[in-house]
Amino acid sequence: MSVALSEDEIARVRAATDIVALITESVALKRSGQRWVGLCPFHGERTPSFSVNAHEGRYYCFGCRAAGDQITWVRETQHLDFVEAVRHLAERAGIELREDAYAGPARRERQVALEAMARAVDWYHERLLRAPDARPARDYLRARGISGEVARTFRLGWAPDEWDALTRALSLDAKVLEVTGLGFVNRRGRLQDFVRGRVIFPIFDPSGKPVALGGRILPGAAERPDGRVEPKYKNSPETAIYSKRKTLYGLHLAKDDVVRTGEIVVCEGYTDVIAFFGAGVPRAVATCGTALGEDHFRVMRNFARRIVLAYDADGAGQSAAASVYQWERQHEVDVVVAHLPDGLDPAELAQRDPAALARAVEDAVPFLRFRLERVLAGADTTSVEGRARAGELCAAVIAEHPSDLTRDQYVMDVADRLRLEPRALREAVATHQRGGRTAEGPARRAAPPVPRTRARPRPGHEALRFAVHGPRTVRERLAPALFVDEVQRAAFEALLESASTQGAIEALERRGEEEAALELAEIAVEAPEEDPTEGDVAAVVAQLIRAALPEALAGLSRDLAAGRVDPEVVRATIVDVKAREQHLRDEHGAAAEGAERDLRDWLVARAATAP
Ligand code: UTP
Ligand code: MN
Repeated sequence: MSVALSEDEIARVRAATDIVALITESVALKRSGQRWVGLCPFHGERTPSFSVNAHEGRYYCFGCRAAGDQITWVRETQHLDFVEAVRHLAERAGIELREDAYAGPARRERQVALEAMARAVDWYHERLLRAPDARPARDYLRARGISGEVARTFRLGWAPDEWDALTRALSLDAKVLEVTGLGFVNRRGRLQDFVRGRVIFPIFDPSGKPVALGGRILPGAAERPDGRVEPKYKNSPETAIYSKRKTLYGLHLAKDDVVRTGEIVVCEGYTDVIAFFGAGVPRAVATCGTALGEDHFRVMRNFARRIVLAYDADGAGQSAAASVYQWERQHEVDVVVAHLPDGLDPAELAQRDPAALARAVEDAVPFLRFRLERVLAGADTTSVEGRARAGELCAAVIAEHPSDLTRDQYVMDVADRLRLEPRALREAVATHQRGGRTAEGPARRAAPPVPRTRARPRPGHEALRFAVHGPRTVRERLAPALFVDEVQRAAFEALLESASTQGAIEALERRGEEEAALELAEIAVEAPEEDPTEGDVAAVVAQLIRAALPEALAGLSRDLAAGRVDPEVVRATIVDVKAREQHLRDEHGAAAEGAERDLRDWLVARAATAP
């Protein structure tokens, strides 16, 4: 059942949503004067052209012209329809929509799940820090180099070795257990906790809300008395608040450093992430019991241009090569691999030598280079046959890369090292390519930025900027007739008619005035560094007037030619206008103000009589 949302409810939701906070949940933004800028999530790019204005509640991309407000943002990034987007924002802001009081069980469910998960994580965490039965867990963590401070940062916890300790302590009911995955109804119809006797690694969403749990068994406890062997980790099931495909463990903590450095380290385990933080690399995240996939890339590319894979050596080499290259191109990121000594994962390396772990990230090499080095390291290069075999293997690896130029450089390099003829190696590569190893076809490029088609006259653009951001009095000094450019005139008219910039943009969109809507959308995020001075405003108004005069005078001449006006009047008017234009150019203070006012009035009057 769906009831139309009222205008004032929508306005309330907008007003309650800080657009910068909303967007930084998924995209890195840096402050630049009044604006916030970052890499546009709607097209691939390496230099930021995405801009957000907190005050106006608008975003705009100068590259691909994506534009909108809080609601558009949620619609575009989460693929929701308008009503769903408003609901999402309402829920986020803790606003209860009228219709949802009786019609939004799914929304309520998420809210309930988030609250219960937060309480559970707190409870587990307290247990780890204080409960006597958590001593073995505390000892275990300490032995692994995880201090109390780190346990607090990651809000690690302890689930007592009981059937229903959490459920009872927090009085969770069957419904809440189900929607959170925190427990279930067992075969005897009793409520049971999902994890028991495990160290808890809470999993957070990028804004820092816990959404799921990973539970690690203590060493030696895996074998139960009944002989069953428990898995090392138990991970929460997927729920309304948790999607494994999209979640990166540790992202909420890593985000700042990722943004600062433009680099993100991806590893496999919760403990690896923690080890990276300890080793002075606080920009590591982990997939949560799943392989690294397309959705993870989408999340990461909003924060970083360089993705460092930090799996143990076998893991990294086995990542699906074709997908990695495709993601690299599609998302315009560089994927590099940190070389970890054989058999060690980051947590293990960190315990032996934290500096070596940090160094491995610094020395990370491109994915293709990493794979070739592995082949070459395992090759017997002392015999002709060994070198030929290594050449074949390298050719197969090189063939997977989609770029001709990249392939060719590696061909030269490998040929040199194996003392092979480059031409022969190149042919071997070509054979592998024809063999269909790269059968999924060329990687899709990100959509190119939409070129701006229309030239925007500068004075009009500046005047609109002041009209949007400047003091209210600016608008009184302007008039539609001063804008020679039709698009800008339409934009200004919309501003006059609407209560807000947002309202003006919507009105223009409704009328199909796309260009004008876009220009305002762009201006909405272009707040000037400081309020314009009287001098700035006067200069812009003067420019605008001077730009409008030739057309108005030409109109006057046409009227004359058509015999619509008295030649004497025309002559006098022209003399008058020219004299005032001179004032506008040369004078200051009252004289210039007078000239500005007279010329504006004349232009407005001309526009009113124009055919
Ligand atoms: P690992 O076996 O490498 O564990 O699995 P780990 O992270 O190094 O843990 P420690 O250092 O032994 O404590 C890597 C990741 O694979 C998932 C978990 O997400 C884990 O962090 N995994 C592993 C499971 O989901 N279930 C398992 O039984 C084992
Ligand atoms: Mn490990």
